[in-house]
Amino acid sequence: MLTALMLMGTSLAEGTLVAYFSHAGENYNVGVVDKGNTAKLAEAIAGQTGAELFEIVPVVDYPQSYDACLEVATAEQREGARPAYVGDVENWEQYDTVFIGYPIWWGEIPNIVYTFMENHDFGDKTVIPFNTHEGSGQSHSQRDIVNTLPDATVLQGLAVRGATAQNDADATAKAVSDWLSGLGM
Ligand SMILES: Cc1cc2nc3c(=O)[nH]c(=O)nc-3n(C[C@H](O)[C@H](O)[C@H](O)COP(=O)(O)O)c2cc1C
Repeated sequence: MLTALMLMGTSLAEGTLVAYFSHAGENYNVGVVDKGNTAKLAEAIAGQTGAELFEIVPVVDYPQSYDACLEVATAEQREGARPAYVGDVENWEQYDTVFIGYPIWWGEIPNIVYTFMENHDFGDKTVIPFNTHEGSGQSHSQRDIVNTLPDATVLQGLAVRGATAQNDADATAKAVSDWLSGLGM
């Protein structure tokens, strides 16, 4: 029995990926942080699912300063930029479930996350969004992911306040476990 459970756990871990973008440095409501809010939420999800983590790291760093980052995000959105990221997921085919994580930037999914989504074939995958924010919740990102990945099966995402993800590990873990339970995972 125990072996069977362990084997089930192993296969979930092998088939599940948590891919996320997160901005460390100065951010709204949390000051200057070494690890971004979405990164902390991503780690909580990976910890509870046994999934692999892939961080979408920009080739050109975003500014550390919050105000400068706002300006870069504005320009990227205006231009429809597709910023490059470092490396890529190995063995993409092995994953049947991909959690995709991001902060809300000006009500939107950051452009670099679109680069990631457009770089991969999500046709036979289950996609589960998650994000952090400081008031916008999911904004319209659930719908945007459905529209960007029309062949994927997109499950209901989770939105967590950035300051909660950054500073309250217990509340974050509970939000994640309640959400995963609701998804039947
Ligand atoms: C460029 C930029 C734009 C933002 N726009 C919004 C917004 O429209 N709505 C919102 O609730 N939070 C907004 N925020 C706050 C972030 O979504 C929030 O701090 C998030 O937790 C940051 O996650 P991270 O540390 O993983 O990057 C913005 C932050 C930045 C840097």
